Amino acid sequence: MNILLLGSGGRESALAWKISQSPVVENLYIAPGNGGTGAYGTNVAISPVDFPAIAAFVKENAVDMIVVGNEDPLVKGIWDYFKDDQSVHVVGPSQAGAALEGSKDFAKAFMMRHSIPTARYRSFTADTLEDGYAFLETLQAPYVLKADGLAAGKGVLIIDNIDEAKASLKEMLGGMFGSSSATVVIEEFLSGIECSVFVLTDGNGGYRVLPVAKDYKRIGEGDTGLNTGGMGAVSPVPFADDEFMRKVTERIIEPTVKGLAEEGIVYRGFIFLGLINVAGEPMVIEYNVRMGDPETEAVMLRVDADLVELMKAAAEGNLGNLELRHDPRTAVTVMMVSGGYPGSYGKGYEITGLDRVTDSIVFHAGTSRDDDGRVLTSGGRVLSVSSYGDSIADALARSYSSIGEIAFDHANFRRDIGRDLMALEK
Ligand code: AMP
Ligand code: GLY
Repeated sequence: MNILLLGSGGRESALAWKISQSPVVENLYIAPGNGGTGAYGTNVAISPVDFPAIAAFVKENAVDMIVVGNEDPLVKGIWDYFKDDQSVHVVGPSQAGAALEGSKDFAKAFMMRHSIPTARYRSFTADTLEDGYAFLETLQAPYVLKADGLAAGKGVLIIDNIDEAKASLKEMLGGMFGSSSATVVIEEFLSGIECSVFVLTDGNGGYRVLPVAKDYKRIGEGDTGLNTGGMGAVSPVPFADDEFMRKVTERIIEPTVKGLAEEGIVYRGFIFLGLINVAGEPMVIEYNVRMGDPETEAVMLRVDADLVELMKAAAEGNLGNLELRHDPRTAVTVMMVSGGYPGSYGKGYEITGLDRVTDSIVFHAGTSRDDDGRVLTSGGRVLSVSSYGDSIADALARSYSSIGEIAFDHANFRRDIGRDLMALEK
């Protein structure tokens, strides 16, 4: 089987690592890939949203399956673009299904229609600004304002003060995030610990739940400072026990899968449930239509199954009785980032010591190679250092020790990944 994987980050490195282990894979291509993905397949210089170029490559190289790492191609309709081509399957939702991530207003309305637990909300446009002010008055601080459309992970504002919340609502509707914030969802603030649940569904009622993970979004230790693309992740999550997951399955996963089918929305791929544990009750913060980054860099270590067989079956619309077991070990990942990130940072620094790492799996994210084959930094998030362990502390000790072997100028990482969960571990 020939597979084309779209994307270039740590998530795609982890997917490529897992895909390349499958005995059914003949050729794996990664478009565009990064300085590390060449270890698992062949990098090809094509943009994940250039559908005509992808179609030409697929034809020339007899690609059987396209795996989409990030949301952009899905929201732009890559599934629909290839739907009449019998020779290739796209793992992912149709464009209608991708609206679960592409439009927060659509996602909230979908949850309401199917009685899926989520924060109380209303949506507003420039024409209903005054109603938005009135709705804010009915809520308690802090106030949660979300741009309806994709905003590169920056479209959510959480504001303590009502006057500032009103001012921000006006600014968002006035184009703060371009057309993405022409509609704004205002919702009730929920308090609890978040976790990420990943489901692979075949669109015909079949689904499998992947290992649960928690990610760490802020740049600073103790969850302080600016939001990033993710600084680390841990799997499993101690509070996501059998009882919690039973609630997640009954109240969230099954109504989601059933609701999509009832509405005639084709969805054959990964659903990412961003959940929050509110006093033992799972509620949905958001849907994404892809795997998470950096969660994937921990979750893939715990997928004890042939992921390619599973994705193929899902894309064909029938997971049948294929099993997806979870490796009982703990897996963690710690991101090494460029100093200055998520603000401005330098690029092109040489990375050394990668060959000295023996106890971890290093997934490249923002890296490239120069003509001499040296690995250079090329982005904010540079490397995802993943390890197995018997406990969160044990796995983290391995990742931190591996990080000690790796060097590049101005490297930064969080030293407290998983610390909040260690206290909960039995
Ligand atoms: P989102 O882009 O929807 O994932 O939102 C970004 C982050 O904002 C989430 O990961 C949460 O940490 C936070 N957040 C979003 N909605 C809420 C909410 N209703 N209550 C509390 N925190 C929220
Ligand atoms: N780690 C969160 C995300 O991938 O959106």
